[in-house]
Amino acid sequence: MSSQKSSLLQTVLLGDDLPLSNRIVMASMTRNRNIDNMKPTQLTTTYYTQRASAGLIISEGMHIYPQATQWEHVPVMYEAEHAQAWKPVTAAVHDAGGKIFMQIWHAGRAQNEKMKWVKQDGSFPGVLAPSKVKAVGGRFRTGDGGHLENTENLTAIEDPRTVVEQYKKSATLSEDAGFDGVEVIALGGYLVHSFMNSRANLRTDEYGGSVQNRCRFPLEVVDAMILVYGQRRVGVKISPFDCYNDSAATYEECMGTFTYLVEQLVQRQIAYICLSRRAVEPFLGRRPDGFHLPAGTDPVDIFGPMVKNAGSKTILMVNDGYTPGEAEKLVEAGKIDLIAFGRLYIPNPDLVTRIEKGLPLAENDRGNHVHYGPFRSPEEDYIDWPASGSS
Ligand SMILES: Cc1cc2nc3c(=O)[nH]c(=O)nc-3n(C[C@H](O)[C@H](O)[C@H](O)COP(=O)(O)O)c2cc1C
Repeated sequence: MSSQKSSLLQTVLLGDDLPLSNRIVMASMTRNRNIDNMKPTQLTTTYYTQRASAGLIISEGMHIYPQATQWEHVPVMYEAEHAQAWKPVTAAVHDAGGKIFMQIWHAGRAQNEKMKWVKQDGSFPGVLAPSKVKAVGGRFRTGDGGHLENTENLTAIEDPRTVVEQYKKSATLSEDAGFDGVEVIALGGYLVHSFMNSRANLRTDEYGGSVQNRCRFPLEVVDAMILVYGQRRVGVKISPFDCYNDSAATYEECMGTFTYLVEQLVQRQIAYICLSRRAVEPFLGRRPDGFHLPAGTDPVDIFGPMVKNAGSKTILMVNDGYTPGEAEKLVEAGKIDLIAFGRLYIPNPDLVTRIEKGLPLAENDRGNHVHYGPFRSPEEDYIDWPASGSS
């Protein structure tokens, strides 16, 4: 990094009226510490406040209906009590000068009905998916380091508009909770993404078949978010070439689907698109046979110009495996506006200060269990990473 002020420290206007103090975004990270019946605690407040110097924080994925997920101790947002529980978190981030969006999530077929918490209040509607097609190769975590098999028992959603309504209710509650906006997770083989994939979505109604039909549910979810927040407070996280949770599609299908989706999102003038390069060789390697990409495929080169052009009000965030130095160069080349860092934010709560002062970045020397657990105490590997200069 040069000794000049890093381009990542420039201020940016997000949407029409949300000034960010820098271009650095803390990416959404599930950390499984919502130990008060899927609600945050004081520890959650401490964790996010420690990281509030990021220009923008994206919360850990938050589920729109009860017991939605792969993970124990993930947060949910479907009742007033959940909004109430998140108020201290958003208020503390704001007091520290930060901004925070809620990431809104429905895990879809990446759930397992055998997990003990999914049926705890008797309202579990089954593992919902566009069609009854099992995800192959997923791993479902029991929270104690164990894994379960894929869910066989899927329920094809009868009327996707009922789920869109749940999204809308959850977003409304998130606004009550004090979030500045909402990010839709549209990658990872989760519900929104699985509608776009022709192997997971075999529907013959208006939600399946053509590109337009496969993107209908994702866009209806986005439109519901816009009804709640207005388009300039909505972000969407995509990963056009993703393979996670059996979401691989051919290069041609990815290009067709995501060209249409990105055009539609830009037309809606949403605040930002977060473009992940997960599963893109050579950045992050290993794709299943039959789903390889042409050499040199880079989502920023392909989709970036669709977002960053004179007619667009939407700005571009990128993610996955970037270093600060690489992101700086992309900002300086005018190719991106924001950079989302995930794993760097675990051991570097003060990442912004470290970049500002040119200090070395801390490495996670504790192992990958720090990501999702198991942990002996909820503080461990969560709020116990020191800031630079503290001893
Ligand atoms: C512990 C952990 C939890 C994550 N949870 C989420 C999540 O809830 N929602 C999401 O969109 N991505 C999630 N991700 C992915 C990150 O947001 C990010 O896309 C990924 O870590 C790649 O960025 P990085 O190379 O900067 O870490 C998670 C990643 C990690 C390491």
